[in-house]
Order: sequence, then C-alpha cells, then structure tokens
Amino acid sequence: MSKYITTPIYYVNGEAHIGHAYTTFIADSMARYEKLKGEDTYFLTGTDEHGQKIEESAQKNNKPTQQFADEISAGFKNLWDDFEISYDKFIRTTDEEHKIGVQKAFEVMYNKGDIYKDFYEGHYCVSCETFFTETQLVDGEFCPDCGRSTNIIKEESYFFRLSKYEDALLKHYADNPDFIMPRSRANEVINFVKGGLRDLSVTRTSFTWGVKMPESIKDDKHVMYVWLDALLNYITALGYGKDEANMRYWPASVQFVGKDILRFHAIYWPAFLMSLDLPLPQHIGAHGWWTRDGEKMSKSKGNVVSPREVADAYGVENLRYFMLREVPFGQDGDFSQRAFIDRINSELSNDLGNLLNRIIGMSGKYSDFEIDSADVLKYHTKECDAMNTVLDSLDAYMENLQTHRYLEELWKLFSIGNKAIEEHAPWVKMKEDKKDQALATVALVANILAKASIMLSPVMPKTTNTIADALSFTIDHESYKELIKYKKLLKLFNIKPVPPLFPRVEEPLMAEAPLAHPNVSEESVKVEDESKKEEDNLIEIGQFFETSLKVGVVVEAEEVPKSKKLLKLQVDLGEEKPRQVVAGIREFYTPESLLNTQVCVVANLKPAKLMGMISEGMLLAAKDEDGLCLVRPEKPKKAGTPIG
Ligand code: MSP
Repeated sequence: MSKYITTPIYYVNGEAHIGHAYTTFIADSMARYEKLKGEDTYFLTGTDEHGQKIEESAQKNNKPTQQFADEISAGFKNLWDDFEISYDKFIRTTDEEHKIGVQKAFEVMYNKGDIYKDFYEGHYCVSCETFFTETQLVDGEFCPDCGRSTNIIKEESYFFRLSKYEDALLKHYADNPDFIMPRSRANEVINFVKGGLRDLSVTRTSFTWGVKMPESIKDDKHVMYVWLDALLNYITALGYGKDEANMRYWPASVQFVGKDILRFHAIYWPAFLMSLDLPLPQHIGAHGWWTRDGEKMSKSKGNVVSPREVADAYGVENLRYFMLREVPFGQDGDFSQRAFIDRINSELSNDLGNLLNRIIGMSGKYSDFEIDSADVLKYHTKECDAMNTVLDSLDAYMENLQTHRYLEELWKLFSIGNKAIEEHAPWVKMKEDKKDQALATVALVANILAKASIMLSPVMPKTTNTIADALSFTIDHESYKELIKYKKLLKLFNIKPVPPLFPRVEEPLMAEAPLAHPNVSEESVKVEDESKKEEDNLIEIGQFFETSLKVGVVVEAEEVPKSKKLLKLQVDLGEEKPRQVVAGIREFYTPESLLNTQVCVVANLKPAKLMGMISEGMLLAAKDEDGLCLVRPEKPKKAGTPIG
C-alpha cells in the first residue's frame, strides 16, 4: 500500500517560525521513515495564499497581492529547500491546476445538492477567516480563537450542507478510534459535532482574492471560502479534477496539523470528502504548540524563534532532533536554549558522538580500521538480543507518531554499546592477547551504531549519512532490509575517521529572548542590596514560575446551594475539557455576569474540595475595603494563554 503524508499549507502572511518548522520536520521524518521501509510514499507541503487576510497583508505591505504571495511563498520554499525537506510536491493554492481542481470539487458538491445558495449574517473574524455565533464570542464581540474584534457581515453565500454529515462523522470517529491522533484530542472534536453542526458558508462576496466559481455556476460575485479552497489542496496536489495522475496515493496516511486547526481537518475536511465520495484520511495527527521560555511567541513581544536563525546557530539536524525528542506528540513544547543545549551535550555529543569516536579510535588502534563481525555472535549474544528487542519496538512508536518515545528507545542502543565496552574492556583483552574478543566487542558496537544510524536517519538524515560513511556502508532501503528487518550484521567495516560530529555547546549561541519580567528582576536586585530583611521575603524568578497562571473563559456559572459565598464555575483553559473552579465570589458577582468573561486562573494548584465539590484552580482577585474584583486580561486572550 502506498503512503501519503501532508503538512498544513502555510499562510503567506508572514515568515516561517519554529511552529511551522516543527510540523514540517515531523512530516518529513515520517515520510523519510516510510521511504526507508520501502513504501511508495508521497509527501506534500505548500502555501495557502487566498482570502481576505492575505489580501489585507499585501495592502499593508503596499504590494500587489500576487506578488506578495509569490515572495512569501518563495520564502517558505527556500527555507524547506535549505533544510533539505524531502517533499515530493510544494503546492501553492494560486497554482492553476489547484484552482481547476477546487472548481471541479465545488461543482460535484453543488450538483449533488450539498451546496446551496442563501444569505448569511454573522460575526466574522478576518484573521481566522471564520464566522462565529453570538454565543461563541467572548464578551459579545471578540473572536474565541484569536481574541481579535469580529465584524458583523451580511452577505449572499453558498452553503455546504455540513449538518447532513453529522451522523456519518460521529460514526466515523466511533468506528475509527485512531482517526484523530493522539486519541486524547478526539473528545473535543466529537463534542463539537454532537453540539450540532450548522451548514458552512463556503463563498464570499466581500472580497475578490480567492478561487472563482466554476463556469457552470456562473456567479462571478462570489469567490470561494479560503478553508474550502485550502483543504482541497490535499487532493488537487494529486491531480484531482485534472489528470488524476497521483490519485492512487489517496487516502492520506497521516495529515499533520497543529491543534488549532484540528477542527477544520477532523470535521469540515472529512465532510467535504464524503460529499465527493472519496475515502477519508487514515489519521489526522494534531500536534501541540511551541512556546519560547514558557511564553507564547508573538511578534509584538519580539520572542518569535526563527528556524533559520536557530539552524544557523545550532545546525538544522540538531534542531530536528531536539524538537522531535523534546515533546510528546500532541502536547505543547517549550523552546529553551538551555534544554536544547542539554540534549546536544548529553544525548548527541556524549551518548552518540563519543561512542562513534571510541569505535573509530579502537578500530584504528587494534586493527588498522578494519573490523570483521565474524565473532560477534560468539561473544555477544546477550547484547545482540537486547539490541534486537529495542529495534523491534521502534516501529510502533513511529506509527503512533510518538517520536519522543521512538528516539528515547533508540537511545537505549547506545547504552547497550557503551555498557558492552565497559564490561568487556577491549583494551584489557588486547593486553591479555585475546584480540578476537576485543575485536568482537568493537564489531558489536560498530553494528549497533550502523543499525541505530539507519533508524535515526529519518530524523537526522545528513548526520547519519556521515556516520554511515565513517562505518563504510550506505543507508537506504537495502541496508534497512538487511540490518533491521532481517537482523543481519554488517560483515566488514572499513572505518574512516571523521571529526567529532557534535561539538559540545557551552553557552547559548543565540541572543536570549527579551526578558519577560524586567520589572521583577531589576527591582528586586536593587532592593536586595539595600535591605537584608527584605531579602528574606524575596523569591527567585524560578519560584515565581513554579506557579502556572493562565487565562480562562467562564463557560458555565452557577450558585452553590446553601452557600452564601461560593459560585461553581466551569472555566475553559484551552484544555480537553473545562475545569471546575469553586470560587468565593458570590457576594460580588452573579453567575450571569461571569458567563463568557475572561479570568486569570492559578492552574497548577492541587485540587481541593469545597463543600464536597472538587475545585481545580483558583481565580485571581483583588480585595480591599470596597469589596472584591476579579483580575482579568486587559484585552481578550485565548483560553489557556499563560500569564507571566
Ligand atoms: N493555512 C492554514 C492551514 C491550512 S491547511 C489546509 C494555517 N496556516 S498557518 O500558517 O497559520 O499555520 C500552519 C501550521 O503551523 C498549523 O498547523 C499551526 O498549528 C502551526 N503553528 C503555528 N504556530 C505554532 C506554534 N507556535 N507552535 C506549533 N505550531 C503552530 O493554519
């Protein structure tokens, strides 16, 4: 069976950042992994170029929209090329073939009766290119996803009968529990669908930067909604609606997306596909968000991590390793240079780099760089068994998208190698005139390194090629089959010395992110000098950060019977489900006044029981003789936004 792996297509309204690089690295590693296993694999990435947001960005930059899109799209493509991303196609939604495919799909849905014309009135967020209902808005005005102001728009629109697919979608989720990965993300999607799906407005008349309607419908006022246009890229890239040249790759095996766009991929996209009578992708893999030093990245804070800058400083392959090793797939991750440097020094330099150096050194000293594996099984069955057990376990981790576990397991091979060297001490064996035993250990470790390099190659393709060169073999499907699948040993090594692959990093190589709390640190240093007594009350910045403060949205509120003080709230912290918070604020707030408002929550308190009810957080409030008021963000922020 063939494999098809996709990234989201990136908006061309700004340059690539580390979050984009992460999606692309995982997808690239997965595609390389499948190719290594000999699967006929197609890997797609590209750019999403239509819609009001792009049109407005181009205007702000005083450029014709197409030229603006060309430039930013080229920026993404150049970056991926410089990073040697192994995509088979880079699609642009302004490509002629794509537009033809989208028009074709629209026509099919229309002719089937799944698209009809009506009027739409609603709150529209330009930034998210999405309509929201009154109840979804924050404080009656702001977008629940990005916090920006929404506009009321009334316009004629074509609608997709999303409501028709409610039951079929729910059935699909139930029948295919791995459709959404990780499984823990499925509930939010299922609940959304169960909450009722409204038909989706799929055209716009308020701007023109979009795919035109199909000729057969003759309605030039409209252009297509950017999400319909964008999602269809996954099939137009394969020739849908044109030559269909690569449609054999459909359905996709894994479509990687960030958690913020899961709803589009797990609800709208399958519904469109059902309407087109096409099979659904096997998996939608939703990853978490990257923050920097614990803070959300944003241009205004000046703490956006540029992948090119990091790659220039630390090397793109080290970055790939770090990002895939650092976070469990699906969870949020933090980009900190300290954590990155620790992994380079301890895992890449110590565990892997040193082992290779030891083998190069010993093979040179004991046998003029030539090593034969003939005696490995004679002296090292225990280590070979342990090695095979690790190798056998790896596939399941990768197929479950658990790259951090995959790499963690893979690293056990280096422990086996290092331990074998310590236990069997080849230098002692040489002195005891047991050269065959000494060389058997060196050959064992050379084989471990060879096999580990093959399995590491999807994540670090260039580095592992250098290791393979040093060990005199080639990483490809053939060697995968021989050494991994059939568990053979490499008969002979002609080792070539190479300079150390992972020089240790002592100091951060990039400027640190702007200090997020200048007021705290500067002030406290001064006070510390002046007063010893005060010092006792001061805390380190790290102690402050032990408290996790987050923005929450109150989604339910009620009075606690028999309590004068307590209200029971359900607060959305951007997690799988809202948290229950029991707060002593009833004398100051009615439940109604709190609904859909934002609060600040201490999110890592141990749960407590208040009047028999679990409370999983605490609200920040200020109280003086005039009463109590809640502390709230000055402007609406996404639920779950960290406060620091
Ligand atoms: N154009 C749409 C996708 C259409 S797919 C048919 C889009 N583009 S995007 O450029 O805004 O985002 C692309 C991807 O980058 C998304 O998967 C998003 O989750 C991811 N990231 C953006 N910021 C991120 C982080 N800070 N961390 C991790 N990934 C995040 O959405």
